[in-house]
Amino acid sequence: MDEVTQIRERIDLVSFISEYIPLKKMGRNFKAICPFHNEKTPSFIVSPERQIWHCFGGCSKGGDVYTFLMEYEHLEFIEALRILAKKTGIHLRESGFQEGLSSKKEIIYKLDKLAMEFYHYVLTSHKAGKKALTYLKKERKLDERLIETFMIGFSPKDGVDLSNYLINKKKYKKEDLVEAGLAFYGRGPSTSSGQASVLDFFRNRVMFPLFDHRGNITGFSGRAIEEPYSGGKYINTRDTLVYHKGSMFFGLNTAKEEIKKLDKAIIVEGELDVISCFSIGVKNAVAVKGTALTDDQVALIARFTNNICLCFDKDDAGYEATKRSLPSLEKKGINITTCIFDQAKDADEAIKNDPAAFKKAIKKDIPVYDYLITKTFSAFEKDRVYGKRKIAQELLPIFIRISNEIVKEHYLKKLGRELDVSLDALAKEAEKIEKKEVVKEDVFISKKDKRSRIEVLEDYLMSLLVQHDNPKMILERSLAILRDYKFEIDSYQKIISELADYFKSNSKFDSRYFLNLLPKELTATFDKAYLFPIPSFGEDKKHAEEVEKVARELRALFLKNKIKEISDNLRKGEKDEDLKKVNDLEKELSSTINLLGKS
Ligand code: CTP
Ligand code: MN
Repeated sequence: MDEVTQIRERIDLVSFISEYIPLKKMGRNFKAICPFHNEKTPSFIVSPERQIWHCFGGCSKGGDVYTFLMEYEHLEFIEALRILAKKTGIHLRESGFQEGLSSKKEIIYKLDKLAMEFYHYVLTSHKAGKKALTYLKKERKLDERLIETFMIGFSPKDGVDLSNYLINKKKYKKEDLVEAGLAFYGRGPSTSSGQASVLDFFRNRVMFPLFDHRGNITGFSGRAIEEPYSGGKYINTRDTLVYHKGSMFFGLNTAKEEIKKLDKAIIVEGELDVISCFSIGVKNAVAVKGTALTDDQVALIARFTNNICLCFDKDDAGYEATKRSLPSLEKKGINITTCIFDQAKDADEAIKNDPAAFKKAIKKDIPVYDYLITKTFSAFEKDRVYGKRKIAQELLPIFIRISNEIVKEHYLKKLGRELDVSLDALAKEAEKIEKKEVVKEDVFISKKDKRSRIEVLEDYLMSLLVQHDNPKMILERSLAILRDYKFEIDSYQKIISELADYFKSNSKFDSRYFLNLLPKELTATFDKAYLFPIPSFGEDKKHAEEVEKVARELRALFLKNKIKEISDNLRKGEKDEDLKKVNDLEKELSSTINLLGKS
């Protein structure tokens, strides 16, 4: 047995996944809310027998313990393998699995680490970084300890130093530098080999490395220090294999333990907000880097806490980002607060002005919805009828999205009181909005679910068959009903005939044994059918009746399609005046209609 299989066998998938998300028993399987997409009803299924998982909701992901870990922690296979090897105490002997050989992602991590060290060295120990160091110390009030903690650096002005260092000294390939987002192909002098030369992506900027929560560096943001800023005040690494804008936080690596300990995360906008918070001992702050929270970011932070304090800039953009972050947070059922400091533009400035006041504001954070009420009421006249209408227009769409019914009613009532209108009136308006949203969602779903009735029924029938305790009997019965039915999903047709073969020499069904006989390309389809959530029928008889019902409907649909096909041909035959053909087709048509009547 190879090591990959050995490790897989050593781990129980149900208890493994339970360490990440709560699983609930459902018949012979376990189910959960899928961690890989947003959903309200659980469609993530784990099979203890087969040691596999599958999501039957929006994302349709699935696999074994390796794929789960890879998906959950955004790892490559080799990384997941190493983690699981360590967990099971199995030593990896195969050379391909050892440290030395690196995947593309690992090369990028290594390059980013070297780049970080290079930038850091330039800032702290080289004359090229002197100006930036003075800027950070004098203007931004950062001390050496903070510069070390966040491994801040500086990218020199020349724009070739990092590339030269990585290529000449460290022997990395140009393509790898470009792929890591650290360099780009420039129009400079070609080398003797005729290759295009590369230039550093970041130049003349203070560099903030972005660590993921496992401590890998995935990219950088660079802040210009000399006005006018060419290329903008901040520049981020472009999207690479390991850097995806909007799916990470700056500072999470340093903050995650404190977030768990305090069971709260403070979300600020920028790198310097995080660093200032840290400098006064507020160590549970992370930065979104200037945008609203995305679903990905919410899923990531929700792994550490259920309580989030939004502490965006106190300008219009910050207010809009606060509002835009709410749906993603509500979908995960997170408690959302915000903190009030009015005299400063952002957390960094508030801390510079008065650190004690900022700490107090953080401690006295208020539910974000109370803050929205205050803001909105100060913007419109609540005593005038159109003022009331404006306020409701602004707040109702937000309040109806609150996931907890008690919290939702609390704010609807509060809004009603403050506006002096009845809850009934608010509820009616809310209903109008909800209707509009439902329609939007329906369109979305029907666009996505393009499966025909036949395909849906075939999925269901296949699952009913393979999940029955005695598939032999039930297969025979459905084949008797289906007769010459041909499955539209070709792999089902194949699995059915493999099953029929299997039962020629076996009476009991052993899914593991059957899978050994099944051609490999059908395994995934079989596994999916084996996990697909079906109703629990209690007794075998009910289960068998359901199978027959589905088989009959499929057979009827099949005959109807056949009738349509024959009629079309018949019309063509009549046009061509092909008498023999017309005669044959008429016979076939009437016998098919006959069959449909009997089925
Ligand atoms: N940001 C970005 N790209 C930009 C502008 C901003 O990624 N083009 C992100 C950066 O992470 C930045 C944060 O948004 O830290 C906040 O931007 P902004 O409020 O404009 O920066 P300031 O707070 O004014 O910047 P600083 O504190 O550096 O003076
Ligand atoms: Mn700011």
